[in-house]
Amino acid sequence: LDTNFKGNRHERRVSKIKQFEEKLAPTYSSSGEGRIVILDHPLVRHKVSIIRDKNTSVKEFRELVQEIAGLMVYEITRNLPLVKIEIETPIEKTIGYTLEGKKLAIVPVLRAGLGMVDGILQVIPNAKVGHIGLYRDPETLEPVEYYCKLPSDINERDIFILDPMLATGGSAAAAISLVKSRGARKVTLVCLIAAPEGVERVHQAHPDVDIYAAALDNYLNDHGYIVPGLGDAGDRLFGTK
Ligand code: PRP
Ligand code: URA
Repeated sequence: LDTNFKGNRHERRVSKIKQFEEKLAPTYSSSGEGRIVILDHPLVRHKVSIIRDKNTSVKEFRELVQEIAGLMVYEITRNLPLVKIEIETPIEKTIGYTLEGKKLAIVPVLRAGLGMVDGILQVIPNAKVGHIGLYRDPETLEPVEYYCKLPSDINERDIFILDPMLATGGSAAAAISLVKSRGARKVTLVCLIAAPEGVERVHQAHPDVDIYAAALDNYLNDHGYIVPGLGDAGDRLFGTK
């Protein structure tokens, strides 16, 4: 983590980051029961470093966001229940395992969350997909909702909210509140880059929600951007701005 900055505000941030680091090993609870799991696998770290690079093209950025999201599925689905089944290999009968048939849904937060959808569906193709449209007001940094379409049986599904950037946490907390208000019971947040401020806000508002991230960054700058981050994820994915 970069601690090469000065001033009281920065010192407070450094101290906050240190508190997080102490708990980061690699799973910790920031407050309440919610966990944050950082996927520090070498492949993930390699790919995250490329998407951070400002010279990475839109095409490569898009491909890598999908690949990272796909790699994260391994960890976010670790606790899916299995049932034993009998199978017959060419050699003999044996016991195998099959997924219990638990229902899943992924819910990308528009726009940037869309970039993670295909990577996840490649690994869990039967998941249903809901959509939540939120944008961050550039002045207040608070989320503004403009769209919501969710599977009707959301109360029977494990919900994975997808958003590459967890900055102030306003968008993620609002998205989680929205799915809960429609009946969701088990919600997990999956992001690529998280800021300590966002982790804390989500866990304060939703202590029951686990957060999975590919990286935990240093702090937010005065414009609410994650430092070092990767810039504006939506713009980089869609080539806007
Ligand atoms: C970005 C990002 C998150 C949000 C994170 O979306 O994709 O949804 O900001 O910031 P927060 O944690 O402070 O709420 P943005 O508002 O830029 O919309 P976009 O995805 O449509 O570009
Ligand atoms: N949204 C982004 O896309 N990037 C940030 O750093 C913060 C919010």
